[in-house]
Amino acid sequence: MSQLRQQFVSIDSTPRNCARLCATNPSMTPASDATTSRSTALDQRFSLPFLHRVRFTHDVAALTNTTLADVFCDDAAAPTRRAVLVMDSGLHAATPTLAQALVQYSEAHASSMPTLSEVLVVPGGEQSKCGMHTVEQVLALIERAKICRKSTVVVAGGGAVLDAAGFAAAIAHRSVRLIRLPSTTLAQDDGAMGVKNGINAFGKKNFTGAFAVPWAVICDQALLKTLPIEVFRAGFSEAVKIALLKDPKFFAEIAASATRIAAHDLAAAQPIIQRSAALHVEHIAQGGDPFELDEARPLDFGHWAAHRLEALSAYAISHGDAVAVGLLIDCRYSMLKGWLDASAFEQIRNVLADLRLPHSHPLLANPDAILEGIEQFREHLGGSLTITMLRRIGEGMEVHEIDLVLMRRAILQTSTA
Ligand SMILES: NC(=O)c1ccc[n+]([C@@H]2O[C@H](COP(=O)([O-])OP(=O)(O)OC[C@H]3O[C@@H](n4cnc5c(N)ncnc54)[C@H](O)[C@@H]3O)[C@@H](O)[C@H]2O)c1
Ligand SMILES: [Zn+2]
Repeated sequence: MSQLRQQFVSIDSTPRNCARLCATNPSMTPASDATTSRSTALDQRFSLPFLHRVRFTHDVAALTNTTLADVFCDDAAAPTRRAVLVMDSGLHAATPTLAQALVQYSEAHASSMPTLSEVLVVPGGEQSKCGMHTVEQVLALIERAKICRKSTVVVAGGGAVLDAAGFAAAIAHRSVRLIRLPSTTLAQDDGAMGVKNGINAFGKKNFTGAFAVPWAVICDQALLKTLPIEVFRAGFSEAVKIALLKDPKFFAEIAASATRIAAHDLAAAQPIIQRSAALHVEHIAQGGDPFELDEARPLDFGHWAAHRLEALSAYAISHGDAVAVGLLIDCRYSMLKGWLDASAFEQIRNVLADLRLPHSHPLLANPDAILEGIEQFREHLGGSLTITMLRRIGEGMEVHEIDLVLMRRAILQTSTA
């Protein structure tokens, strides 16, 4: 944290720097060294094609809806042998017949998919990502039900349960097939679209995890009906995020629908969720860095502060709400730096307000505690500090240093907003 006490932070520990170090210190110059020149290189470059199957549907468990059965038999050469269902307890409580309906569905579609041989209900919400409990339960299920690498874990729930169960699926037998049925707005418009799985550890968000491309993601609009209103609204901060980065027209569409969305209007919400999902999938599949090897992480705009706020609040604030606050901090900082004009900032603030998302949090009164999130973010990414800021609505920009005086001001102004 010592760097953060200086006025500017600029952290660079990349291989470029190592090369620079070697050049100034002959004892560290490996290329011309006699010992290393005797080594034999067997390097091979290889790449793997992935198919990221993402479907939107209505009433996935209806016997006449073939979406789920179809994705199971999509690879005729390697049909799924067995399958189990993991379900979020919040979803299960809100829709008690769903698990049984999915089991009956699997029996009715036996020519396309295996029967869901067991149903495991796990605690919903962030608690499923705090500690190994859910991961261990799912690993035990995989072992018990003899789920092999040609078998499938179907997981239905919010982003937290998808992350924890997905992590178990990614590490069991070094990865078994996973079908995600996201059941929150956030999971459908962002969380389930990615190739990341994981849990929180050491007081840090997503510290333990693995990249794994799911077999399929099926978003059932009907599942969103039972969401508590604050969970329903929270998902739209991620849609605002991606619109701010990539698509000003989409931002205008969200602005036009925001008050209807805040009132749990599914018809208004659906096109926004689907467009957000499409932009996230497109970025992951076409952006050139699906496994986040580069330093830039544009999809994490607003997230350095959001993740810190979540951890500091012991996960009392939801991810979606924290992202809304994190976006406001970074948009305000972008305005204070003179990159984003004041009217654009007002538009962003108004959209978040119309969505009835939080605009502040009491923990922002201690900006230094929030600022720890910058170093944690750099550590999580590795390499040099790279944070996305906003140049204008629809266009992000990468920065490699943060003016801490202005960032403190941005946090404090957000704390009193
Ligand atoms: N892997 C990724 O790329 C990625 C991306 C974004 C977010 N995330 C993660 O997603 C998590 C947030 O997910 P979330 O916003 O979906 O919240 P959540 O998973 O915490 O769920 C919120 C609540 O809704 C309940 N619930 C779920 N579906 C329901 C339904 N249909 N009806 C009634 N209740 C229901 C849950 O039981 C829980 O209590 C965070 O941990 C975040 O880090 C992951
Ligand atoms: Zn997020």
